[in-house]
Amino acid sequence: SERIDALEDVARLLPQPGNRGRVLVLAGAGISTAAGIPDFRSPGTGLYANFRRYGAASPMALFDIEHFRRHPAPFFQLMHDMLAETGGVLRPTPAHLFVRLLYEKGLLLPCYTQNVDGLERMAGVPDKLLVEAHGTFHRAHCAERHCRASYDAARLLQALQVGGAMQSPPRCERCRRGLVKPAIVFFGEPLPHRFRETLRADVRAASLCIVMGTSLTVAPVMYIPDMVRRDVPRVLLNRTPAGRIGARRRDGVLLGDVQHSVQRLAELCGWEADLGKLQRR
Ligand code: OAD
Repeated sequence: SERIDALEDVARLLPQPGNRGRVLVLAGAGISTAAGIPDFRSPGTGLYANFRRYGAASPMALFDIEHFRRHPAPFFQLMHDMLAETGGVLRPTPAHLFVRLLYEKGLLLPCYTQNVDGLERMAGVPDKLLVEAHGTFHRAHCAERHCRASYDAARLLQALQVGGAMQSPPRCERCRRGLVKPAIVFFGEPLPHRFRETLRADVRAASLCIVMGTSLTVAPVMYIPDMVRRDVPRVLLNRTPAGRIGARRRDGVLLGDVQHSVQRLAELCGWEADLGKLQRR
């Protein structure tokens, strides 16, 4: 049958020859919670449930560019706390390593990620197969619309880690006026050019679409799964339902912990040893 009701069905589908270089992955914050980074919308633990802790006026204010230019403190506080919680040390999770495996097996089209933690890159997904749609912490730039000069990201993170940035936030060295921020996409900022460069070609080329760890609520990324051809199976690996996945005949909604799902998928595909080796690196 063509239906996708279980991980076994995905495992049968995955390594088929027609999937070579054509598996489109779309990832979100849910693949990094196991690395100690909170997601946005999970009740209780998500960043948006805890906006008051950072002194923000509303959840969205935390990542709003206009708000940041006037009141950078909540975002800087959030960064400070996060760096303290993770100790600044991050390790890719099995879900990130699973994407790397898809690449090694020659199956991966780009992985579109909404995450800014750089863990896909750290897992070894090569640049040409990675689209960081909401930017990355590993670069920084001036927050002034007409400047946007780059800034040393390590230096900014260092300033945020020690906490000095809350009192005297680093300023742009070119315009000498703007605040500097990590090169992550705030509400009100454009997505990186890379996002649009190959999106049309990628969705057209996809023979399988795997969506993991995202609530599919933020445009334009939320539309990606609906852009693949109607006969292309779409698989959701997430704790909760997301977007319109499930509405098409060949959709599979496989709810649960994404880390367990990918471990099991790797086993079912015979990639358990490969995944184990990557985890022990
Ligand atoms: P969300 O917090 O909206 O969604 C994360 C999803 O992952 C939720 O559906 C959780 O149930 C699920 N989840 C968390 N941990 C999981 C686990 N271990 N196993 C399975 N599922 C798990 O995060 P995103 O969808 O990534 O944008 O959010 C999209 C964008 O909204 C972010 O990139 C950010 C935010 O505003 C910007 O800041 C521009």
